[in-house]
Amino acid sequence: MIEIKNIEKSFNGNKILKGISTVFETGKTNLIIGQSGSGKTVLLKSLLGIHTPESGQICFDGRVYSELEDDEKRELRTEIGMVFQGSALFDSMTVAENVAFPLKMFTRDNRAAVKERVDFVLERVALKDAHDKLPSEISGGMQKRVAIARAIVNKPKYLFCDEPNSGLDPNTATLIDNLIKEITEEYDITTVINTHDMNSVMEIGDNILFLKNGIKAWQGNKDEIFKTDNEDVVAFVYSSNLFRKVREAYLRE
Ligand SMILES: Nc1ncnc2c1ncn2[C@@H]1O[C@H](COP(=O)(O)OP(=O)(O)OP(=O)(O)O)[C@@H](O)[C@H]1O
Ligand SMILES: [Mg+2]
Repeated sequence: MIEIKNIEKSFNGNKILKGISTVFETGKTNLIIGQSGSGKTVLLKSLLGIHTPESGQICFDGRVYSELEDDEKRELRTEIGMVFQGSALFDSMTVAENVAFPLKMFTRDNRAAVKERVDFVLERVALKDAHDKLPSEISGGMQKRVAIARAIVNKPKYLFCDEPNSGLDPNTATLIDNLIKEITEEYDITTVINTHDMNSVMEIGDNILFLKNGIKAWQGNKDEIFKTDNEDVVAFVYSSNLFRKVREAYLRE
């Protein structure tokens, strides 16, 4: 479980996160939604320790990040898997080398152990025939799978994904969402996903944090989001014709 208490983050005197408090639960797909520029990536990078909030607390299963010693921070960092926006694979490395990279960086596993773990996670994301391919030789959806395999290879307790299905067709996007949800439940991971995709909200919105201009405007799950009267949420949902209709159908039931 990750607990955030009143975090604030500014850049050049411009406040981007304006006192956000929330809880991201373990074994759940926790979504951060909101319009472009609302602060989703800044929040995720704050969890990752890339940005340091000027006030507030981030607590990882009882460990307050800002109070940890450097070696404890490093240890915590090895418990986090990250899927960056746009996959961010190493172009000159094969799929298997990409996935093995965090193991070589963060563990002392021998070659046989690395190979066994890489085989296992590639099989888990249904890519067992792609070991020796380069990222440029596989599709966008497959690249996302490689990024997910790389993010989970170290058996993370926490998995952060920034727009994991952007740029994919709707079917492939749904497959990726469902894969992340399955992995989250199977390995009891605390997963946080940035998205502005209403399909993701409907498919995997166990817990949804809605950001507006750096403020938590609403929080709830995928059923509640279609029933709420919250004006900001309604405007966000209504910005898609399809989901306006879905919301109206929900409300009629
Ligand atoms: N390193 C930075 N320095 C200065 N300003 C920044 C920095 N990173 C983000 N910002 C600003 O913070 C605001 C929120 O950005 P953020 O990237 O978190 O938005 P987002 O919700 O992830 O949007 P998108 O959906 O487009 O990815 C933006 O106004 C952005 O310009
Ligand atoms: Mg972003």
